[in-house]
Amino acid sequence: MDKPTLVIAICGKGGVGKTSISAMIVKLLSEDGNHRVLAVDADPAVGLATALGITVRKTVDDIRNDLIRRVENGNQVNKTDMISMLDYEMFSALEEHHNLAFLAIGRPEKEGCYCQVNHILKDIIGSISDNFDIVIIDGEAGIEQVNRRVMEKVSHLILVSDTSAKAINVAKTIKKVSADSIDYEKSGLILNRLRNQEEWQKLTLGPELDCFGWIPEDDTIRSADMEGKSILEIEDCPAFKALKKCWAEIEKS
Ligand SMILES: Nc1ncnc2c1ncn2[C@@H]1O[C@H](COP(=O)(O)OP(=O)(O)OP(=O)(O)O)[C@@H](O)[C@H]1O
Ligand SMILES: [Mg+2]
Repeated sequence: MDKPTLVIAICGKGGVGKTSISAMIVKLLSEDGNHRVLAVDADPAVGLATALGITVRKTVDDIRNDLIRRVENGNQVNKTDMISMLDYEMFSALEEHHNLAFLAIGRPEKEGCYCQVNHILKDIIGSISDNFDIVIIDGEAGIEQVNRRVMEKVSHLILVSDTSAKAINVAKTIKKVSADSIDYEKSGLILNRLRNQEEWQKLTLGPELDCFGWIPEDDTIRSADMEGKSILEIEDCPAFKALKKCWAEIEKS
């Protein structure tokens, strides 16, 4: 039997480096060409698309909003037609380059309960994911939105924080809340943007969080972002080397 899909969700306070770390994980796990990797951008600002140099033509919410508009305009759509239409549209929204595919969730326009559509979309994301070895989800700050709109079960919940007490507390809160809201197998923290080893040694995290390691402040990442350069094209910089170490820890845990 095929190995089950590894689903990695990346969460943490705003601006701490979730998208940069998600993009580096995508780079690390897709570049040997041996795994089919799906990158999911669950942030309405579609930062992961930019970090990977991908142009988003259609998001899951474009598809959802189109369907809702049709129903609101009085078009009758029966459930079977709805499922096959959404299924077709979702596969057409996947951007594929060799062994790496990309899906953007987007931003819902319509408030209110369109539960049936949301459930169908979540089911389709689940069945698309089953075709991949690894799924990496760059979330908005919290895990609730990933759970509500993308997936209810992940294998790895990776929390990202910088050295600020505020961001570490947000990571702790997400961990606490996620215990009830999402099903995960492993969870731990990656600390980002440390200036040196001493900073790492000085940090006290408390018993709530396991730490997979730390990533240094690295101008390669900042400059790539400033220049709109894809993280997939960066060289073996200190941040990427550190990310590889963190990944080795995650695999061991
Ligand atoms: N290790 C690093 N070294 C230097 N700069 C970094 C590092 N990690 C992230 N950055 C920079 O910090 C900024 C925020 O990073 P990023 O967009 O990855 O954060 P985010 O958590 O995804 O933010 P948001 O919550 O807005 O989605 C970016 O300018 C990025 O280039
Ligand atoms: Mg981001």
